[in-house]
Amino acid sequence: MTKTNAVIDYLRSRKSLPLTMMSEPGPSESELRDMLEIAARTPDHGRLEPWRFIVYRDEAGREIGEKLAVRAQEINGPMPDDQIERERNRIRRAPVAIGVVAVTKESEKIPAWEQFLSAGAVTMNLVHAANAYGYKANWVTGWYSDDEKGRAILGLSPNERMAGIVHIGSSDREIAERPRPDIESLISDYSGEYQG
Ligand SMILES: Cc1cc2nc3c(=O)[nH]c(=O)nc-3n(C[C@H](O)[C@H](O)[C@H](O)COP(=O)(O)O)c2cc1C
Repeated sequence: MTKTNAVIDYLRSRKSLPLTMMSEPGPSESELRDMLEIAARTPDHGRLEPWRFIVYRDEAGREIGEKLAVRAQEINGPMPDDQIERERNRIRRAPVAIGVVAVTKESEKIPAWEQFLSAGAVTMNLVHAANAYGYKANWVTGWYSDDEKGRAILGLSPNERMAGIVHIGSSDREIAERPRPDIESLISDYSGEYQG
């Protein structure tokens, strides 16, 4: 018989809330603080803590949105009003958004690749923590995380990368299921050294 408990049930059914469905309420200050503490309880080879969090509240989202709208037009040329409005609202689609910033540290032993993986694990842990507190979450990066000026607008230095912007809010609406991986096709027993 398949084992069940509350954690397994949650992990088997977890899904992201589309950003278009995000609404109030968001977490209180103390809930958010607890969620970030849980998120940081993540495997971290060499204890480098190669990540940090930026909290984007409403006023920050407004300021960032104005700048992203300008930057988007620097990149794309003049844009129609509805697209400009979309850029203005990028970081205002949920009650709160948290940037999980990968901050790779100099290390002879721990490659940057492993440090990025740890930042990704922190991001997923934050998604789990938000869900555990009864909220809904969505992990996005967006074009601005892939653009150096965009990252600067979001508060990142040139040697930092955005692992994810976790948007947190609520919704009573049913979230549609999306196709999930065919797990059997992804699993194999070891069949010997790769021969090229
Ligand atoms: C690193 C990373 C970046 C992502 N960035 C975006 C994004 O910019 N825009 C987007 O629509 N979805 C993005 N996604 C996907 C959303 O998280 C998506 O809604 C999610 O994969 C849905 O799957 P789930 O229901 O299993 O959570 C990203 C996912 C990851 C892991």
